[in-house]
Amino acid sequence: MNLYVATHNAHKIREISEILPNFTIIPDDPEGVEENAPDFAGNALIKVRAISAKHKGSWAMADDSGLEVEALGGAPGVHSARYAGEPSSTPANNALLLKNMMGVTNRRARFTCVCAIVDPEGKEHIVEGLCPGVIADVPSGASGFGYDPLFIPDGYDVSFADLTADEKNAISHRGRALEKLRALIQK
Ligand code: IMP
Repeated sequence: MNLYVATHNAHKIREISEILPNFTIIPDDPEGVEENAPDFAGNALIKVRAISAKHKGSWAMADDSGLEVEALGGAPGVHSARYAGEPSSTPANNALLLKNMMGVTNRRARFTCVCAIVDPEGKEHIVEGLCPGVIADVPSGASGFGYDPLFIPDGYDVSFADLTADEKNAISHRGRALEKLRALIQK
């Protein structure tokens, strides 16, 4: 079954393909859309609507995700990709997060992933996955992407970037949201 996915992020496409191996994942860039909603669900809907119009009768999805840090009032949140400004830079984002967390004792944080889905009848659905954890004092690990080296999920003493892809997918916000997506599609 085809699943059109509104992203050009190769890491996300790989994770989605690993979690949903029975689907043919077809990336489609939602060109020109502005992700200006105040929350993850709003941005995911903006993106999926932009591609589903081109693929009527098929499943389409978009995810919007980010890291919310308690001591920073939920930042970087919907601004996770561009926390340190334009252009989007993982090293700059991670450096700014570490700087803003210097001396902060409450290191609670969570990743959120919201998937907006349009089914073959054109009906919209929203599913969400959360992964709670803490922000590390120093980066660790070489796998994954984004803030992975700085995020230690609850129940672990290593970062997301220290885990294998399978280990991360089993507990991650995206893994949890995509499990719900899988259940929805298989209904
Ligand atoms: P978007 O969902 O493409 O708008 O971007 C979300 C941003 O949140 C990414 O660019 C990353 O900085 C961050 N992010 C989302 N999911 C993850 C993850 O699984 N690991 C690390 N960073 C993530």
